[in-house]
Amino acid sequence: MARIIMGIESSCDETGVGLVRLHDDGTVELLADEVASSVEQHARFGGVVPEVASRAHLEAMVPTTQRAFATAGLSMSDVDAIAVTAGPGLAGALLVGVSAAKAYATALDVPLYGVNHLAGHIAVDTLQHGPLPTPCLALLVSGGHTQLLRVDDIASSIVELGSTVDDAAGEAYDKVARVLGLPYPGGPPIDKAAQNGDSAAIAFPRGMTGPRDAAFDFSFSGLKTAVARWVEGAARRGEGIPVDDVAASFQEAVVDVLTAKAIRAAKEQGITTMVISGGVAANSRLKELAGERCAAAGIELRVPKPRLCTDNGAMIAALGAHVVAAKRPTAPLDFSANPALPVNVVSL
Ligand code: KG4
Ligand code: ZN
Repeated sequence: MARIIMGIESSCDETGVGLVRLHDDGTVELLADEVASSVEQHARFGGVVPEVASRAHLEAMVPTTQRAFATAGLSMSDVDAIAVTAGPGLAGALLVGVSAAKAYATALDVPLYGVNHLAGHIAVDTLQHGPLPTPCLALLVSGGHTQLLRVDDIASSIVELGSTVDDAAGEAYDKVARVLGLPYPGGPPIDKAAQNGDSAAIAFPRGMTGPRDAAFDFSFSGLKTAVARWVEGAARRGEGIPVDDVAASFQEAVVDVLTAKAIRAAKEQGITTMVISGGVAANSRLKELAGERCAAAGIELRVPKPRLCTDNGAMIAALGAHVVAAKRPTAPLDFSANPALPVNVVSL
């Protein structure tokens, strides 16, 4: 019999509650995906303020849950299992979601699963594109993470091939946007400005692409500094800043490295399916270049729609459904959120 899984996400600045139906054949259907974001409260600080995010989760949790059930046309008694983000993320923010999930699971007397936020970003793709062929390669790019992952089983087996040694890709977008006087979060305005710019105007460095660098690790801190220096130099000379060209050239440096390393990893691992997810996967040039390079390499590319790429509750419900289908163990009611949960721990 089909089962209803509720997913709760609160690892950063989005309070997400998702509801999915797990069918007997293992397919997962999206029923509701409600998100309340505190992003506007962080905008003037240029980054997420943990304490502000925690408070916002506390205020948004119950109303967001009520909206999700109203959207799905379900009542709480229809829920068969609850999944919640156990980590990685901000400690205080995670705690709000985990506490709510424990309370709901206790009140409803249903099993509880503490699941990995990063695995959720990959699992969400099954809501749009169906079951995930395995092994697959996942490129996870957001404000907090930049990772290349090998997925052998979305419910139990994920291995990290590489990650950023400094800034996350989205973090680089946010910092460069600040330098260019563009609003936070920086990804969308840079994406837009870049469409009117020349990506070959300025040769910005491609981080960690030297012969001695780790093949699948990333670095964006040098690129961010190079952009800042270039802009400072132009300002010192009294020149106007060609924002569109800087945005396009910066963006090209980011997506060139991301896609080149992802393709190389897929080829080396003999993998023919790639999933790109996380907030930066909404980037138009990343999707375009990844599409070209995957096609040339004979790799099937799957990118969830932007709404599913950014943090949400549906991704946690989707992962929860796969974990339930795989008959993985439930979490003990006294489990703790783990801000540094490693990516290979798909569920607690
Ligand atoms: O996944 P997400 O919503 O939250 C985290 O887990 O971090 O990702 C947010 C990040 C921000 O850094 C934002 O600037 C970036 O995703 N982003 C983009 C675009 N849309 C959002 N980066 C590049 N291009 C975009 N179109
Ligand atoms: Zn995320």
